[in-house]
Amino acid sequence: MKILITGSNGMLGKALSRQLLNKHEIIGLDNGKTQDLGAKARKFIHCDITDREKTISEIVSNRPDVIIHAAAYADVDGCERNAGLAQKVNAQGTENVALAAKDCGSFLCYISTDFVFDGNKDKGYAEEDKPNPINIYGRSKLEGEKRVQSELEKFAIIRSSWLFGPGGKNFVDTFLQKAQGKKKIEVVDDQFGSPTYTKDLALGIDKLMVLGDSSKGIYHITNSGTCSWFEFAVTIKAMAALDVEVLPVSSEQYDSPTKRPKMSVLENKRFCKSTGITLRHWKEALKEHLDERENFS
Ligand SMILES: NC(=O)c1ccc[n+]([C@@H]2O[C@H](COP(=O)([O-])OP(=O)(O)OC[C@H]3O[C@@H](n4cnc5c(N)ncnc54)[C@H](OP(=O)(O)O)[C@@H]3O)[C@@H](O)[C@H]2O)c1
Repeated sequence: MKILITGSNGMLGKALSRQLLNKHEIIGLDNGKTQDLGAKARKFIHCDITDREKTISEIVSNRPDVIIHAAAYADVDGCERNAGLAQKVNAQGTENVALAAKDCGSFLCYISTDFVFDGNKDKGYAEEDKPNPINIYGRSKLEGEKRVQSELEKFAIIRSSWLFGPGGKNFVDTFLQKAQGKKKIEVVDDQFGSPTYTKDLALGIDKLMVLGDSSKGIYHITNSGTCSWFEFAVTIKAMAALDVEVLPVSSEQYDSPTKRPKMSVLENKRFCKSTGITLRHWKEALKEHLDERENFS
């Protein structure tokens, strides 16, 4: 198959191209001027998805069978400061990609987020639970979901959470950097989720794509197991043998410009039923990431 990945220079985009490269023809598309190290697309298109005309003409001229739309303004605090850009990239940009998919009859796989939910549930969210985002990023990503649903028949919306992996900004790397030379670090203990390794999410997306058009609909795909950010940090500290004290704090005590959902756990039932796969526990994935991160540029 010919698969076009938007956001191919990003953390998930790179993992996707590495996962799919050997089986498919991969075309990368990103607003970066050139293809990043670690992104392995056979062909690279420099394109800003907010430019409707260019996005549609570039995608249509390549006629991909599948588009995996991972490009996003994914800086949650940045979205809060710049709501216009969040809407432009995550909602209008997604609509542009959806229009291109419609034009060339491609199956569109849109990557979305746990942040479409308000986090008020006391257990994990199922695909059919009603979204109710509480911040700008979540609202703009939900708007992206709606535009995909209204433009297309052939689509999958894949929500994931707490991504970590090589080649992008993520909690694991930020924590390791912050821990350098510090005696104590405060980490929020009342927000819960499932840390998800981009390599495993890419594998899950690959398995879902094998089902073709019958994979239509909304899926939650995360690594197994849940934790708070504090528990995640304590585990990173132990695995990386860091000499730093990790202190639990509440969301109220932690100074953040953005309201975040307290419950971000996503039940993976529909994905497991459709593919027969359960992604491994996040701790196992974290161990692999820490072992391999030194080898990645
Ligand atoms: N990170 C998480 O914890 C998380 C959790 C759940 C879901 N997601 C979703 O997963 C997807 C991938 O996230 P990620 O963490 O891999 O993000 P990322 O590393 O920021 O990758 C996104 C890529 O999209 C590019 N991009 C941004 N605006 C663009 C535009 N207007 N036109 C073309 N390309 C553009 C970015 O380029 P620049 O860097 O140059 O802007 C970047 O290369 C996103 O859809 C995100 O919403 C992420």
